[in-house]
Amino acid sequence: MAGMKVDLQNRVLVVTGASAGIGKATALEAARRGMHVVLAARREDKLNAVAEQIRRLDRQALVVPTDVAKNEDVAALVEKTVEQFGRLDVMCANAGYGFRESVAELDEQMHREIFETNYFGTVRCVQHAMPVMKKQGSGQMMVVSSIVGRIGLPMYAAYSATKSAQAVLAMALRVELQRFGIEITCVYPIGTRTEFFEVSAKLNGQDTIRQNTPNMFMQTPEHVARKMVDAMRKPRPEVWPGRFMGIASAIGLMLPRMTQHSLRRHVEDEQRRGFSGT
Ligand SMILES: NC(=O)c1ccc[n+]([C@@H]2O[C@H](COP(=O)([O-])OP(=O)(O)OC[C@H]3O[C@@H](n4cnc5c(N)ncnc54)[C@H](OP(=O)(O)O)[C@@H]3O)[C@@H](O)[C@H]2O)c1
Repeated sequence: MAGMKVDLQNRVLVVTGASAGIGKATALEAARRGMHVVLAARREDKLNAVAEQIRRLDRQALVVPTDVAKNEDVAALVEKTVEQFGRLDVMCANAGYGFRESVAELDEQMHREIFETNYFGTVRCVQHAMPVMKKQGSGQMMVVSSIVGRIGLPMYAAYSATKSAQAVLAMALRVELQRFGIEITCVYPIGTRTEFFEVSAKLNGQDTIRQNTPNMFMQTPEHVARKMVDAMRKPRPEVWPGRFMGIASAIGLMLPRMTQHSLRRHVEDEQRRGFSGT
C-alpha cells in the first residue's frame, strides 16, 4: 500500500480527540474527501456538533464518547465502529494534551496521567484496531506525535517524553505490522492554533509555548489536517506539516550542543519574563 494511492470514498476513519483542534479538523477534512468518520473524545456535545457538520457533507458520522485513558472505552470504540460500518480503515490516535513543569517540580501523578492519555491511549487504539485490520488485510494507524517528540522541549519534558514514546512506538510497529498490510504513519506537527495552549495553562497555571512560538512557526489545524488526510490518500511513514521541520529536527539531533544552547537561551528568556524555570 505504501506509495500507492488509496481511494478514500466510503473508507472508515476513527479519530480520537475529535471534539477540537487537529482531530476535529481531520474528521471534517476526511469527510470532505469521502470518508465516514467515527468521532471519539470525552465531550459528547462537541462531538455531536462535529457529527452534524459531517452529515451535512453527506457522509456518515458516529459519535462514541471515549476517554482514551480507559481501556474499556477504547475497546467499545472499536467494537461500535465495526458494528456500524463492518470495517475500520484508519485509526488516528490524536487525543492528547501537554503542560508546563520543570522536571525538578514534576508531580508524579500528573506525569503518570499524561502518559496514560498520550502514550497508553495510543497503545490502546493500536491494540484494539489491530485485529480488525489484520482480518481485513489492510489498514493504517496514524499516530499524532509532535516535533517535541524529536527535540525535547525544556519545561515540557513530560509532554515531550510522551510524544517521543509515541514516535518510537510507531517506528517499531511499522515493521511489526507491515506483513499484515497495515501502514503506520507518525505525524509531527509544530505549533498549531488549537485549544491545546488553554488546556495546558488551565492544568498548570502557565503555558509558554504559544507566547514563545513566532507566528511563522504556528499553523492552523486545517493545514495539519490536510497533510494528514493526504497521507491517508497516499500512505507514508512520516508527516511533517511544517516545511523543512523534519530536516531541521534531524540537524538539531546531529548538533546537540548547538540545540542545547538555543534551548537554554529560550528558558533564560522565559525566566526574564517572570516564568518559573530551572
Ligand atoms: N497544538 C499544537 O501546537 C500541537 C503541536 C504538536 C502536536 N500536537 C498534538 O496534537 C494532538 C491534538 O492536539 P490539539 O492541538 O488539537 O489540542 P486540543 O485542541 O486541545 O485537542 C485535544 C483533543 O484531545 C482530546 N482529549 C484529551 N484528553 C483525552 C482523553 N483522555 N480521552 C479522549 N480524548 C481526549 C480533547 O477532547 P475532550 O477534552 O473532549 O476529551 C480534544 O478533542 C495532541 O496529541 C497534541 O499533542 C499539538
